[in-house]
Amino acid sequence: MPATELASIAADLVAANKGILAADESHPTIEKRFTSIDVSNTEENRQAYRNMLLTTPGLEEFISGVILFDETIRQSASDGTPFPELLESRGIIPGIKVDKGAKDLALFPGEKVTEGLDGLRGRLADYHSVGARFTKWRAVIEISDDLPTMFAFNANAHALARYAALSQEAGLVPIVEPEVLMDGAHSIDRCDEVTRAVLSSLFEHLKLHRVALDGLLLKTNMVLSGKKSSDRADVQTVATKTVAALTETVPAEVPGVVFLSGGQTDEQATAHLNAMNRIGGFPWQLSFSYGRALQAPALAAWKGEAANVEAGQKALYHRAKLNGAARSGSYEPAMENEAA
Ligand code: 13P
Repeated sequence: MPATELASIAADLVAANKGILAADESHPTIEKRFTSIDVSNTEENRQAYRNMLLTTPGLEEFISGVILFDETIRQSASDGTPFPELLESRGIIPGIKVDKGAKDLALFPGEKVTEGLDGLRGRLADYHSVGARFTKWRAVIEISDDLPTMFAFNANAHALARYAALSQEAGLVPIVEPEVLMDGAHSIDRCDEVTRAVLSSLFEHLKLHRVALDGLLLKTNMVLSGKKSSDRADVQTVATKTVAALTETVPAEVPGVVFLSGGQTDEQATAHLNAMNRIGGFPWQLSFSYGRALQAPALAAWKGEAANVEAGQKALYHRAKLNGAARSGSYEPAMENEAA
């Protein structure tokens, strides 16, 4: 595929007023979500839940792409249409998580490296043939007093760059995702320092691997205080520091940065994105690729009951709409109370 086609898919994924729905939970992760609403983690329930999300009326107004999990990309909607085909027909781009999870990094206690490079070329060709047009790979970086080590984030940056090169070779737009976790009691300045170091390392590796920067998206964390910090930064501080860190580390050729929500509440995730887009003046689109912050209200409304599908879809549509507004800085907290 010519590089320009990758650039065109990447640009469509960060089109105005839209963002990405991350619905790529692995079986253990979806189990956690289902346990919270007392639903058992069966294939049938996973299909029913994802069917509800992906058939939400009007979703395409605010959602440009959906990241699927391996099982889901091979499943069909309740009317028999394969999920990737259903999305495509609605003008939503199907994507796929291709990493095999963060595993302990040998000899580096407390640190992780993401696996999944072996055999990746073959898996990417398969995903392309079933309709995927973009991919995602997530690396996890945890902050403590003496971690992360430079070795650990370089190892993850190397794997992310190898993945991104293979993905572009297969005609699939890579979403490179280094996530600096918000777990812990660290200050926002410590998150700022680690995020900058991680992103600088990532872009060095991407350049060395000849990855086309206009044919990828960066998915990353916002610069936030640790969840357990006693002095958590406010919305404006988060927005200012995040925009400053990205401005120093993310090349202008990158079409967009899509944030993960990472444990922020739905409202915080929307308010932070909104405040950044109000600052403006940066070369890339700033958008969302939320999992929990888009799905949480839909999951809570659904509760595993067929009778609640419409309520779940309304909740997802409402959340997507508010994040769509945050893309242009036009979200107002009062909009939270508008009827879904
Ligand atoms: P959260 O928004 O729930 O962090 O999930 C996004 C994601 O895809 C993490 O890889």
